[in-house]
Amino acid sequence: MAISVKAKQMRAEGIDMVDFGVGEPDFDTPNHIKDAAIAAVKEGFTKYTPASGIPELKAAIVEKFQRDNKLEYTPAQVIVSCGAKHSIHNILQAVCDPGDEVLFGAPYWVSYIEMAKLAAGVPIIIETHPADNYCISPDALESVISDRTKVLILNTPSNPAGTVYNLEWLKAIAELAVKHQFYIISDEVYEKLIYDGRKHYSIATLGDDIKELTITVNGVSKAYAMTGWRIGYAAGPRDVIDAATRIQSHNTSNPSSISQKAALQALTGPQDEVNIMLTEFEKRRDYIASRFDEIETASYVRPQGAFYIFPDVSANYGKTFAGTRITNSMDMADYLLQKARVALVPGAAFGCDNCVRLSFATSLENIVTGLDRIQQALSDRN
Ligand SMILES: Cc1ncc(COP(=O)(O)O)c(C=O)c1O
Repeated sequence: MAISVKAKQMRAEGIDMVDFGVGEPDFDTPNHIKDAAIAAVKEGFTKYTPASGIPELKAAIVEKFQRDNKLEYTPAQVIVSCGAKHSIHNILQAVCDPGDEVLFGAPYWVSYIEMAKLAAGVPIIIETHPADNYCISPDALESVISDRTKVLILNTPSNPAGTVYNLEWLKAIAELAVKHQFYIISDEVYEKLIYDGRKHYSIATLGDDIKELTITVNGVSKAYAMTGWRIGYAAGPRDVIDAATRIQSHNTSNPSSISQKAALQALTGPQDEVNIMLTEFEKRRDYIASRFDEIETASYVRPQGAFYIFPDVSANYGKTFAGTRITNSMDMADYLLQKARVALVPGAAFGCDNCVRLSFATSLENIVTGLDRIQQALSDRN
């Protein structure tokens, strides 16, 4: 937040800034989706809907899970919320009793920790390593399981590290969940953004036992460039979805009727624009990675999915650059903002102070300029 406030201020002063901070696709929502929303407004589809979503969208979600993930759900096992964030929040509220432990790996998406606390849960952060692509290892998971463990949040592909879990580790994680009977919230919002022809696995497909414990979360924000429409969804055990629906019905009621019609079109209409975005993101991933290869004091794990790169810049800590001593990720982000006019997010926000996060959801031209500037700023060591 501090960096983003400063970046905004500098931009308002007319300073030309390259923004690597954004967490949303820079593409526009495809026209056929916008048209569906416009039609909904014109047809007067502007009233309350059932709290868990309109039946035709829930049916399309059931079909999506069948088609893309080989997962069988009934519409009653689906909730549509105001974004995947909202689904995760409501599920945590539903499953957590005060003091229950909510597990997730660091680096983590910033909201997990706060959502766990809002649900009166206790966040338990599992350390991960670059050598493991920042995935939670089954051993590390096993070492933190206790009789208060209620739920593990898995994120594949991940924000901020672009991690994609392999099948072997997912199987081992599923076995632990079944053995110790805790839930898994599988956050798959970046499912469509996976590179190198890699395959996405939903942990709920690994057997009936693990499916009974898994709530699979997805949404239209990232795949269809629809962050502002606020539609996400989840599917899982009927009792959990029912409880999350009751919570949702008393705090926000239904997600926007118009956005639901747009999401219906996104899931059932042509999918070509998803592939166009994927191709462009992969090109940018290749380029940004090649630029970090040239920077000796930054090491990174090649992002396998999502649209972020999370380089470890800690080799620069304790050193002075253009008169500024850098000791942590916040100093690094601040220095690069002032000196290079580049906005990025300090890794401390994701529980990993060695790193910084750059989003490549910005044009290749911006990426070229931004990396030129970063490279220059990091060579200015004295
Ligand atoms: C890992 C992860 N999960 C969930 C979300 C929430 O997406 P939305 O609420 O827009 O569907 C985000 C958004 O940045 C994310 O990065």
